Amino acid sequence: MKYTVLGFAVACLLVSGSAFASEELAKKNNCLTCHQMEAAGLGPSMKDISKKFAADKEGEQKIVTVIQKGSKDVTGPGKMMAPMANVSEADAKTIATWILSLAGEAAPAAAPEAK
Ligand code: HEC
Repeated sequence: MKYTVLGFAVACLLVSGSAFASEELAKKNNCLTCHQMEAAGLGPSMKDISKKFAADKEGEQKIVTVIQKGSKDVTGPGKMMAPMANVSEADAKTIATWILSLAGEAAPAAAPEAK
């Protein structure tokens, strides 16, 4: 029993710790310079990206591909994101997982209009 409680506490620490680390990673790689959390800027907001790709079971891989290969004309004519070759595959995956988790956080508030 003691170990179960301890294990749960450690798991919580790891989860909250990694969510924080992922946001830091997104900041470090300048994602948030063009993608604000809530509102569209140069690129779509992180919340909107999250909602779009969370609905796709290959969403994580697609986000990784956008980071590595860039994107053009998807969210509007003339919109473009350059490939970010400096972001490692592992970092891209961590950021993708973090972006997808944002839709989950937004879900309770958005639930009434969602269905
Ligand atoms: C220099 C500005 C800039 C930076 C830096 C940037 N993006 Fe983008 N991003 C954009 C723009 C503009 C678009 C829209 C491209 C389009 O419409 O095809 C976009 C599109 C995207 C998309 C696809 C959205 C969709 O609806 O298809 C994802 C995912 C994404 N960015 C993630 C990231 C991540 C993660 C990072 C950091 C590693 C990042 N971006 C850094 C400007 C940027």
